[in-house]
Amino acid sequence: MVEAITWHGDHLELLDQRVLPFETTYIQCRSAQETADAIRNMVVRGAPAIGVTAAYGLVLALQQDPTPAAFEAACKVLAASRPTAINLFDAIDNTTSRLGNLADLQDPAAEAEHIAVAYHQDDLAKNKAIGRHGAGFLAGARSVLTHCNTGSLATSGWGTALGIIRQLHEEQRLTRVYADETRPFLQGARLTVWECQQDGLPVTLVTDGMGGHLMNNSMVDCVIVGADRIAANGDAANKIGTCMLAMAARYHNIPFIVAAPTTTIAPKTLTGKDIPIEERPHDEVSHVRGNPITAPDTAVFNPAFDVTPAELITAIVTEDGVFHPPYRFN
Ligand code: MRU
Repeated sequence: MVEAITWHGDHLELLDQRVLPFETTYIQCRSAQETADAIRNMVVRGAPAIGVTAAYGLVLALQQDPTPAAFEAACKVLAASRPTAINLFDAIDNTTSRLGNLADLQDPAAEAEHIAVAYHQDDLAKNKAIGRHGAGFLAGARSVLTHCNTGSLATSGWGTALGIIRQLHEEQRLTRVYADETRPFLQGARLTVWECQQDGLPVTLVTDGMGGHLMNNSMVDCVIVGADRIAANGDAANKIGTCMLAMAARYHNIPFIVAAPTTTIAPKTLTGKDIPIEERPHDEVSHVRGNPITAPDTAVFNPAFDVTPAELITAIVTEDGVFHPPYRFN
């Protein structure tokens, strides 16, 4: 299992997910600002991984300057890096509430380090539990369609949706996983396919528009995806293109499953309408790996996420178990 995030005591090392699978390079972060930049620029991505990274960013901030004013500024810098994944805000809240009053602490940076390391390890344990619960829910052999990347690269390890898929594979019940390419950033084509290949999972790459065809031809019997934020009513934001898969799955009467740790659930976000959807730079759509794929000056819309209504979600799998509609996360 690949490690996307490695803590070295005085700096954070991130596997650069922008250039995988063609290059394996690492970026070092030594401040909250550098950490926020790495999150915004997608060196590290995936909701749980963003949260863990932010927790370490706060350690770096306290190592540089443990005053409350500097810490508050660092929290703001990190919170502004990406708006949709609630894990980012959960990690910041977790650190600030556990630290309490900085003036009461002998070594705030050391305390924050304990908190970040525990948060990191806890995410791995949550993923493993999600995998077990999800695979338990899905009886028999399975051919799965997934979207984006929800594996070790997007988490502390193992993965959420990909964690369930890995568990099915361990139980010799995974017939095949179809990975959507995931336009425009190509997390599926570049990252999910690579992760599956590394670990020997039978994976086939498809484009984002092929899901309906796969379902129509009985080539997949369930869809498993992750989430960036799950509202109190179960509406779930995930990578753009997810909602279309949920609609197609409902039409074909196959289970559509959202897998996420409870750190992705946002009880204060009442419905999907309250989830801020990040819009990313237009060149992510108009170019592929630096090469233009459309006429210059083409108008572009690039929302990074969409919201799947709760009523289309057969089950939400967390480390606490399998939930069904109507969802009420309070
Ligand atoms: O823009 P990204 O790559 O951060 O988007 C990631 C996703 O949409 C994932 O499906 C989600 O964060 C869950 S990762 C376990």
